[in-house]
Amino acid sequence: MPNTQIESYLRDNQQRFIDLLCEHVRFPSISAQAEHRKDVEACAGWLVTHCKKIGLQARLCPTPGHPVVLARTFTTPAPRKPHYIVYGHYDVQPVDPLDLWSSPPFEPVVQKGRLFGRGTSDNKGQHLAHLNAVEAYLKTGTELPCDLTFVIEGEEEIGSNHLADFLQKNRQSLKCQGVVISDTGMPSLKHPALTYALRGIAALGIQVTGPDRDLHSGIYGGSVENPAMALCQLLAQLRDADGRIAIPGFYDDVVPLSDYEREQLARLPYSEAGYKKHLGVKALFGEAGFTAGEQRSARPTLEINGLTSGYQGEGSKTIIPSWAKAKLTCRLVPNQKPEKVLQAVAAHLKKICPPTVRLEIKAGHGGAPFLFSPDGPKAKAALRALESAFKHPAVLLREGGSIPIVNEFQRILKTDVLLLGLALPDDNAHSPNEKFDLACYTQGMRLSTQLWPELAAVS
Ligand code: BES
Ligand code: ZN
Repeated sequence: MPNTQIESYLRDNQQRFIDLLCEHVRFPSISAQAEHRKDVEACAGWLVTHCKKIGLQARLCPTPGHPVVLARTFTTPAPRKPHYIVYGHYDVQPVDPLDLWSSPPFEPVVQKGRLFGRGTSDNKGQHLAHLNAVEAYLKTGTELPCDLTFVIEGEEEIGSNHLADFLQKNRQSLKCQGVVISDTGMPSLKHPALTYALRGIAALGIQVTGPDRDLHSGIYGGSVENPAMALCQLLAQLRDADGRIAIPGFYDDVVPLSDYEREQLARLPYSEAGYKKHLGVKALFGEAGFTAGEQRSARPTLEINGLTSGYQGEGSKTIIPSWAKAKLTCRLVPNQKPEKVLQAVAAHLKKICPPTVRLEIKAGHGGAPFLFSPDGPKAKAALRALESAFKHPAVLLREGGSIPIVNEFQRILKTDVLLLGLALPDDNAHSPNEKFDLACYTQGMRLSTQLWPELAAVS
């Protein structure tokens, strides 16, 4: 049952909550770029100060990478009520290409009920919704039915490399009944969602090197391999005309979708024309035999994320570049393992690389796919909270993105993870003009306030 005091607190503070999110978004906390290290830290510091202001016990926990913000609602040495972790990340993706933004990425602006800025949706608006809900409990003197610990990290967008270690070291104090994460999506405000599966990820960088310097393409062209051409040929062989990844062993561990899941996926609201329009593509492309919904959530992929070689400056420069590089990631589904997939990709690349160039392969971050049964009492409680906050039936989703730490929460803390995303499909996460609908922000706060009594009742 919604609590009227809390509801009015949320209503009365609506503008302040928007201003607060703007403050949060103004930090260019791009974890991937060393030049932003200070900004990332400042953002974490701001969060700690904010958490203290609303009455939480908060501190900054250094890691070998970016710090973790830890904040709890209880003052006792150990939790006394059902204990839940709320996880989020304050780091954001790089902003380029900057010229495609309609307003500067770190100068948030509201337009027609949407807040534009890098990190508004992924993930500052989503974890702030939970913090605001807790603030409403604390400031109205309403007893929180659960003890909560916020774990907000600064390395999610680069693979959460140091968080597993942090969980391991703090596993005693982080023992809990479950982890709640709002860092996924929902099909629309009329389809609040519980996500029960995420794809895993395996990243790698490859470099193809030819001559020991850039060469005049007229003087030498035709007699030496062009590394950019060689790289393109290598990459083009990784996928066949039907959209299948052409790497031996790549699909070995893939668990086929059951008929039941395919039926459920087919029920989600989707229009091919709308999807094409939303993405600005002429036609869709994907692995033959699967629907777009299946392709982007329940099938593995290999994508080129970045491709660099030769002259990128103004005008032209007639050279054979000395080298060419690519950044690749594979999205994984149950039961693929990041290490095994990386090995298969690397072995295949080595096998098909021509003798005219040198090939170097660097393994990057990895995360296992996530799948859990949405039939348990906590998932049911979460579904009830979603339905009562959004006033629409909730849907179950498999999603294509990755949150590498979710499996580690399960493995290290031996606990359940509930993914209750607040992002909309047109939020432009990782793209120019990222935005967060203020309705999602508000509804997210309501969801959070209603979640704790529901979870306490089943914990
Ligand atoms: N919020 C996303 C993950 C996500 C998005 C899950 C949409 C489901 C639906 C998260 O911030 C993210 O972008 N994760 C990265 C992880 C990677 C860098 C290891 C991703 O999926 O690319
Ligand atoms: Zn992201």
